[in-house]
Amino acid sequence: MPKRSKSSAQWLRQHFDDVWVKKAQAMGYRSRASFKLLEIHQKEKLIKQGMRVLDLGAAPGGWSQVVVPLVGRRGQVIATDILPMAVLPGVTFIQGDFSDEKVVQQIQSVMGSDAKGMDLVLSDMAPNMSGIPSSDLPRAMALAELALELAVNCLAPQGSFLVKVFQGEGFTEFRQQVLKHFQRIKSHKPTSSRPQSREIYLLAQGLRTAVNASIPPRGL
Ligand SMILES: C[S@@+](CC[C@H](N)C(=O)[O-])C[C@H]1O[C@@H](n2cnc3c(N)ncnc32)[C@H](O)[C@@H]1O
Repeated sequence: MPKRSKSSAQWLRQHFDDVWVKKAQAMGYRSRASFKLLEIHQKEKLIKQGMRVLDLGAAPGGWSQVVVPLVGRRGQVIATDILPMAVLPGVTFIQGDFSDEKVVQQIQSVMGSDAKGMDLVLSDMAPNMSGIPSSDLPRAMALAELALELAVNCLAPQGSFLVKVFQGEGFTEFRQQVLKHFQRIKSHKPTSSRPQSREIYLLAQGLRTAVNASIPPRGL
């Protein structure tokens, strides 16, 4: 039972989280985030057999768990996170800070000779939130921008990019930046995402190859 001293907003938030956490535990998912990707996939039919998928900000592995059976044995799943992740069969995991160029190079080397042949880049990356939007939003946006940069450089023509962003400062500009590189963009707010949270997922599809070369590698 919640303590009486908690505000009703806090109680509702805690209750919402508990419902999804219990559901994840009951279904054997490593995190409630699995439901967010499942819902988007059910609407968009995003993940298909044989696809090559990159999962950024993957720990503890809820999204990768959803992706592995959907891509099947012919597919490939590469996952990365600054935190460790318990082994997940069918996933090649790289641990490191995604803002470190060496980590990006490691990811690209795992992609192998066809490093421009990924079908889908997922990014659920989010920094540790302080609750202060003026500090949290720019840090979250910086990760989303780095994810876009790699997506544009590693996706096959017509590839797709699903990225978590937070509504607020920089959101409109980021959306426009994504649209320069992809033919279509949609917003998704899954039911398992807290209604009060600024979190939203942008799904960009149809990589435009003509502008593909316009994001130079980091540091240049
Ligand atoms: C919401 S969680 C991801 C949950 C995951 N999609 C799942 O389904 O279990 C966000 C993740 O972003 C990771 N992250 C934050 N900053 C990062 C960075 N600089 N490099 C790599 N991962 C980062 C965090 O460690 C965290 O695991």
